[in-house]
Amino acid sequence: LFSQVPLAPPDSILQLPIRYKADPAKQKINLSVGAYRDDAGNPWVLPVVKKATEIMLSDPAMDHEYLPIVGLQEFTSAAAKLILGADSIALKEDRVVSIQTLSGTGANHVGALFLSRFYAWNGPRQLYISNPTWGNHKSIMINVGITPVDYPYYDAATISLNLEGMLSALRAAPERSVILLHACAHNPTGVDPTQPQWAQIADVMLQKAHYAFFDCAYQGFASGDLDRDAAAVRYFEKRGVPMLVCQSFAKNAGLYGERVGALHVLCADKDEATRVRSQLSIIERAEISNPPAYGARLMAKIINDPALFSQWNEDIKTMAERIISMRQELYDLLTKELHTPGSWEHITTQIGMFSFTGLNAAQVQIMIERGHVYMTADGRISMAGLNSSNIHYFAEVLDKVVRG
Ligand code: LMR
Repeated sequence: LFSQVPLAPPDSILQLPIRYKADPAKQKINLSVGAYRDDAGNPWVLPVVKKATEIMLSDPAMDHEYLPIVGLQEFTSAAAKLILGADSIALKEDRVVSIQTLSGTGANHVGALFLSRFYAWNGPRQLYISNPTWGNHKSIMINVGITPVDYPYYDAATISLNLEGMLSALRAAPERSVILLHACAHNPTGVDPTQPQWAQIADVMLQKAHYAFFDCAYQGFASGDLDRDAAAVRYFEKRGVPMLVCQSFAKNAGLYGERVGALHVLCADKDEATRVRSQLSIIERAEISNPPAYGARLMAKIINDPALFSQWNEDIKTMAERIISMRQELYDLLTKELHTPGSWEHITTQIGMFSFTGLNAAQVQIMIERGHVYMTADGRISMAGLNSSNIHYFAEVLDKVVRG
């Protein structure tokens, strides 16, 4: 029955921690998946999550009943405010549909599935995606019958944003095209548009009546500040760019395995929102019946309780600051100690969880096979995997590979 099934390739990101685990080398480093580690290299349960868990589990009224189809309302409304801001006009006008999803991947999936069925497509179902982008974006789109099309984003020569390339691709795209934008801390490059650049992007989006498909997986990780990292989304809303937002709490709350996220669709008015909600509800019911409760309950407590919310902000700062200090240390090691050939400013100028080292696929293979340093083939490293015990070793391996 299945003799014709071809062997699929392993996942470009999630295969790496498995290979890392199986590697018997004594000195090895896992810089593959974007998951925060503390300075001892261990997963970090945020102190605020520990506190919220205690509160949640000590509540005698806690049960394990189903959530509503579109999720826990205290969570989805708090999540919407967190990304759109308390003064969002769309929120005030009650025309945002927010549903709980299986983290950011689920939000991307449900958002794309909804668009594939109901968006006013102008031509074939295509979605424009930055080149490069998160390894899963294309698969998610293809899964729902949408063809991903690259737009230029990263200029390898200048190690920065190729704004002109991006703008001209957006200008050349048919009107009402759907454009996937990383809200902050672009994955994998760590290169974000500046505010004036976002303004230029918004200008073209409005001129061409394009639709913004925002993916926000790293709110808090770019600057250490939740509001600052929401600036692009909030700015686009103010400018009136039509959009949806995919939101994940995997990284900024360290709730990777709990699959807690949300999808927010900004509608033209309340009536449209009611209809959109009804269709999203049908999709959600058929796909997952109703979303998991645990992580959503935690996040609802954390966002809605002022003391927990301020503790969360501190925890986010702790993570963001440790990553920034690793960037500085790596830069100093490469430039001042090892005098590694090349320019390494991008290590400190890139933001968020990742650094796009500039290594090519052949160099990455050597990093893995000879150095036992696991990173994605596009040259991306998760800065959070570096710590005071392994950063010297990493810099030395990198130095050797660059020298060839
Ligand atoms: C990553 O990019 O490493 C993370 O978003 C984890 C994932 O699911 O790929």
